[in-house]
Amino acid sequence: MDIEKQFEEVFSKITLDNGQPLVSVQPEIVHGCVVNNDFAKITLILPEDSPLRGSLPAQVEAEIKKIEQIERVAIEVLASPPEEKTAAQTTQSQTEPQQPKRTAYLQNYEAVIAVASGKGGVGKSTVSVNLAIALSQKGLKVSLFDADIYGPSLPIMTGKRGEKPSVVGNRLVPIESFGMHTMSIGNLVDENDAVIWRGPMVHQALEQLLRDTDWPGGDIMIIDMPPGTGDTQLSISQLCELTGTVIVSTPQDVALIDAVKAAKMFTKVEIDVLGIVENMSFFACPKCGEETPIFSRYGAEETSKKIQAPFLGAIPIELEVRKGGDEGKPLMASNLDSPASMAFKNIADNLVKVLEEG
Ligand SMILES: Nc1ncnc2c1ncn2[C@@H]1O[C@H](COP(=O)(O)OP(=O)(O)OP(=O)(O)O)[C@@H](O)[C@H]1O
Ligand SMILES: [Mg+2]
Repeated sequence: MDIEKQFEEVFSKITLDNGQPLVSVQPEIVHGCVVNNDFAKITLILPEDSPLRGSLPAQVEAEIKKIEQIERVAIEVLASPPEEKTAAQTTQSQTEPQQPKRTAYLQNYEAVIAVASGKGGVGKSTVSVNLAIALSQKGLKVSLFDADIYGPSLPIMTGKRGEKPSVVGNRLVPIESFGMHTMSIGNLVDENDAVIWRGPMVHQALEQLLRDTDWPGGDIMIIDMPPGTGDTQLSISQLCELTGTVIVSTPQDVALIDAVKAAKMFTKVEIDVLGIVENMSFFACPKCGEETPIFSRYGAEETSKKIQAPFLGAIPIELEVRKGGDEGKPLMASNLDSPASMAFKNIADNLVKVLEEG
C-alpha cells in the first residue's frame, strides 16, 4: 500500500474520547501532513483553550509511528491555520488536506541554500553572512540559519552574541540583523554547553530551530553548515528541501579534495551543487593592489570544472573580512569598496543567475 493510503487509513481510525472520528471534526483539526523518508510532520489546529491539546498530539504521534516506514514524528500544534502563500496552494490544501509532501520545513522560501565544505575553517560562516547581506542588498528577502550546533558562529559574526530571541506564543522570533532574519543555537544555549551535544540531539536541535522559529519566508534562506559530511548534512537534507548547496573551498589541494567529497555527498542525496566559491584565493595588497596567490590560486575554479559545477567567484584574503567577523560587523555591512566586497557582490550576482536558470 502506498504511503498516502497508509496515512489516510491511520487518520481515519483515530477517534476522540467521545467516539467522534478525528477527520470528521469541523473545523478541520488535521491541517497538514508532510512526509520525508522516515520522518513525518503533522500539523494540528487546536485553539489555545482546546482540551484536546492535552492528549491528542501524543495519540496522533503514537498512531503515526505504527506506519512501518515512519521512525520519527513531529507534531506541530497551532492555534489557527498558518496563512497560505498563494491561491494555488490554498486550493491544493482544500482539495488534498492530507496529501503527504516530500518536503518539510522552510517551504515559505523560494530557495533554500546550504553553504558547505568538506574541511573546517575555510570560511563557510564568513561566506554565509556576507553573501546573505550581499543578496539582501540586491533587494531580496533573505534569512540566515546557523546549522552549526557544535560551533555556532553567527551570533559573534553578526554582533548578536548573548542576545536571546523573544518568544511569542510558543514560537521563537528570529533575530533581525543587517536586514535579515537569523537564528542560531548560540542565541539559545550557553556557548560552553553547545560542545557536549551528541548526534541524535543535534538532529532534534536542528528540527526544533526549524520548526519552532517563526521564519518569515522570503526569497532565499542561507544555511551555514558545519564542516564535513556528517549528521547535520543528512539531517538538513531530510528536514528541508534544499534548492542546492554552495561549496566553499580554499585553493589548497587538501581542502579541495574534501570539498569534492562534500559535493559528492550532496549529489548522493540528489542535491544540486549550485556552485563553488574559492575563499582566501589571493592577497590583494591594500597599498599597491598587487595580488599574491598565497594558497596557489584557481585550484577551486579548476575543481568546479571537474565536477561540472558553476564557479561563483573568488574571495581574496582581507584583513577587513576577518575583523568584520570578529567584531560582529560583517564586511558587506560596512560599505567598504574593497576587492573582497566586490567579490561578494559578484558571487551574489552569479548565484542569482544560477537560481534563475535552474
Ligand atoms: N577571505 C577572508 N579573508 C580574511 N579572513 C577570512 C576570510 N575568510 C575567512 N576568514 C577568517 O577565517 C576564519 C575562519 O572562517 P569561518 O569561521 O568563516 O570558517 P568556517 O568554514 O565557517 O569554519 P568552521 O568549519 O569552524 O565552521 C575566521 O576568523 C574568518 O574571519
Ligand atoms: Mg562556520
